[in-house]
Amino acid sequence: MQVTIRPLQEHDAHISVKWRNDPEVFKYTGNTYKTIISIENELEWIRNVIVKNQVGRDFRCAIEVDGIYVGNIYLTGIENGAAEYHIFIGDKNYWGKGVAKQASVLILKYAFETLRLNTVYLEVNKRNIVAFLLYQSLGFLVVSEKSDSYSMEVKGNRWATISTTIHVGAPQDEPESVIVQL
Ligand SMILES: CC(C)(COP(=O)(O)OP(=O)(O)OC[C@H]1O[C@@H](n2cnc3c(N)ncnc32)[C@H](O)[C@@H]1OP(=O)(O)O)[C@@H](O)C(=O)NCCC(=O)NCCS
Repeated sequence: MQVTIRPLQEHDAHISVKWRNDPEVFKYTGNTYKTIISIENELEWIRNVIVKNQVGRDFRCAIEVDGIYVGNIYLTGIENGAAEYHIFIGDKNYWGKGVAKQASVLILKYAFETLRLNTVYLEVNKRNIVAFLLYQSLGFLVVSEKSDSYSMEVKGNRWATISTTIHVGAPQDEPESVIVQL
């Protein structure tokens, strides 16, 4: 299984629009859409994403498995040595196969080793157990909490230590997991 991440492109909207309208995918995220997202909405969103990626404010990527687009992963609000991380696997056939973990390792490597950030942070709903376990396995620690969510973060020095111990997929998968820059 080859997991790659690459910056989102306009044509991705034709697939991602289906995921936007799947309540199971967005159950625990901040994006609980009240109305149907149309292809026009998604295209408009993705065009804005491309502009923000180009100015370096965000790094919003597609996740591909053996060339198939299965989800999105982002660093957003990149400034002052920090960025927020987000992920969803929109194609539910790929849940539980280690895809999120491999994609996350790629984007965190990019954050700490290429962008040289000090901190990557996130917010997770307390009921989203799978996501919480994923984040813990990547080295994120809880730094504060609200009634329904945790704020978590991983610092560069912790990442440097923990990234050497993270197991992603079968050993033969690891060298194949790459970031494709457009
Ligand atoms: C959360 C989500 C990204 C996980 O993606 P995934 O590809 O299924 O996760 P992985 O297979 O890479 O598993 C990563 C870790 O999550 C945990 N995990 C995955 N599936 C699990 C399950 N069914 N039960 C318990 N833990 C699970 C494990 O800790 C696992 O690491 P391990 O295999 O080394 O033990 C995916 O379920 C998703 O997109 N959910 C909807 C969107 C969402 O909630 N995004 C997060 C918003 S904060």
